[in-house]
Amino acid sequence: MKTIITLDGSSGVGKGTIAMLLAKKLGWHLLDSGALYRVLALAAQQNALEFDNEAALSEMASHLDVDFRPEEDGVKVYLKGEDVTQALRLEETANLASKVAIFPKVRAALLQYQQDAYQSPGLVADGRDMGTVVFADAPAKFFLTANATARAKRRYKQLKQKGNNANLADLEQTLIERDKRDSERKVAPLLAASDAKCIDTSLLSVDEVFDCVWQALPAAFRVQD
Ligand code: C5P
Repeated sequence: MKTIITLDGSSGVGKGTIAMLLAKKLGWHLLDSGALYRVLALAAQQNALEFDNEAALSEMASHLDVDFRPEEDGVKVYLKGEDVTQALRLEETANLASKVAIFPKVRAALLQYQQDAYQSPGLVADGRDMGTVVFADAPAKFFLTANATARAKRRYKQLKQKGNNANLADLEQTLIERDKRDSERKVAPLLAASDAKCIDTSLLSVDEVFDCVWQALPAAFRVQD
């Protein structure tokens, strides 16, 4: 059995946190696919590319000089050798990411990079289309949902903890807009794979979501039990 777990869902459902905890417990690798789209958005911004220029954006995507380095205080992301970890987490970057993510050629250019992230002993992949496109043959798929208010509150807390400015009402509005763009795009929209287990995390704690995911994993993955 392929050792891949996919976690998809909209922003703020908690999939990043669950993916990190799973990867840690299993000793597997982690793919934060959203970070790739965010890095591309930053690179496009730095190079003053037009955000509607699919050809230029996909060309840039296929030559992206990005490096994910696990360091003591988390994974640091370097674009052309420059640490862009902070800029990556901004909501503005996320919004731009969802604009570059609508283009089929951009998604195609990033596909191989994501599939190459699979390494033994296994991979936990988080994003929007991990279970539907990138790792469609994964044996364990999850799709997390939560209402917009719960998601905005979580994002608000995360941003504040990292020392960023945030306004709860504005955040909820931008999350809703971003989800709409992600759900309505023609290629690889935000969608649960038909064989994914769906979990509404609105009223659940991190531990509760983790337990729910853990119990649903194939027994062969849960050797740590
Ligand atoms: O997951 P994160 O919030 O970092 O993703 C930022 C944006 O990147 C999403 O809103 C979405 O538009 C895009 N994305 C995507 N496919 C993925 C991961 C992220 O289209 N697998």
